[in-house]
Amino acid sequence: MNDHFRTSLSKTTLCISLLLLLLQPLAGGTTTATPPRIVSFQKGFTQLFGGDTNLRRSGDDNTVHLHLNQYTGAGFRSSDMYNHGLFSARIKLPSDYTAGIVVAFYTSNGDVFEKTHDELDFEFLGNIKGKPWRFQTNLYGNGSTSRGREERYTLWFDPSKAYHRYTILWTSSKIIFSIDNIPIREILRTTEMGADFPSKPMALYATIWDASNWATNGGKYKVNYKYAPFVTEMTDLVLHGCISNPIEQLSTSDCTETNKQLETIHYNTIKQRTAMRKFREKYMYYSYCYDTLRYSVPPPECVIDPVLRQRFKETGRPDFSRRHHRRSRKRNHGLSNQVYEIQDED
Ligand SMILES: *[C@@H]1O[C@H](CO)[C@@H](O)[C@H](O)[C@H]1NC(C)=O
Repeated sequence: MNDHFRTSLSKTTLCISLLLLLLQPLAGGTTTATPPRIVSFQKGFTQLFGGDTNLRRSGDDNTVHLHLNQYTGAGFRSSDMYNHGLFSARIKLPSDYTAGIVVAFYTSNGDVFEKTHDELDFEFLGNIKGKPWRFQTNLYGNGSTSRGREERYTLWFDPSKAYHRYTILWTSSKIIFSIDNIPIREILRTTEMGADFPSKPMALYATIWDASNWATNGGKYKVNYKYAPFVTEMTDLVLHGCISNPIEQLSTSDCTETNKQLETIHYNTIKQRTAMRKFREKYMYYSYCYDTLRYSVPPPECVIDPVLRQRFKETGRPDFSRRHHRRSRKRNHGLSNQVYEIQDED
């Protein structure tokens, strides 16, 4: 693609996204489309580890295959950091035997703020052959690693069979995790959350790595390299937000306009709200908000749903072992420590 074409294309894309954003209030303050800000690898991303063997880019540079074999996994991050944003990718997970494997799609600024980092996670946790993938979402703000906010779920589809779009929306007032435009988790910022709500610029990361000691049923099932390589495919990556240098964020950029745009993105149609409720009732099998042994008072952002409270009370709290499972920064490629181990049923 020549530069002129690229420029006019990105101008067109920008116009379309602005148009979509402008149209949202007319559509009842909702959006059903991800702003089409697809960014090629070359334009938006930097390889973290894995070399050319384990990180493979397609000819058009819109698709990345991340391999895990007995030597290494692979990962990349966005070249820039964003002061709020919408981060998204269509992802296909490895199939068959995937125990011990973690595929992570997350935002973080842990490279810049070691002690006070912010983070928003989708973490896919593998499973033994024939069992569905499980995943969790989580968030940390200003180094709140002692206050995990994990939720765990299964999915309504097999994520290894086809691409599905996974999206993290982070504005100054809310965080929404969504899959194929269905919101699955919403965190509305409350004053009481304080700095636990992520507030400093973050980069987007995507990694695949060996988490044998932790990922699947608390480490019971390890990675079996007989089935290697394990490949996750990511395509049509979207980075939509205000690029910001975290060190000089106040002086170098004005993110008011972009942040205003981001605030107009909602997942508020009746269809979406109903789908979210159904998802959470049916596929969520752990939420820190209902774990009264861990948090006798639910953290301030928790909105207690009577149906879920009833269900989590009935089934009892997941069988937690209080083993503190610190993962080193090196091994987990920048994801935060898993303080609590959530016991999955077999
Ligand atoms: C973030 O944490 C640091 C270190 O604990 C603290 O000094 C700072 O005030 C916190 N920031 C906010 C906004 O609370």
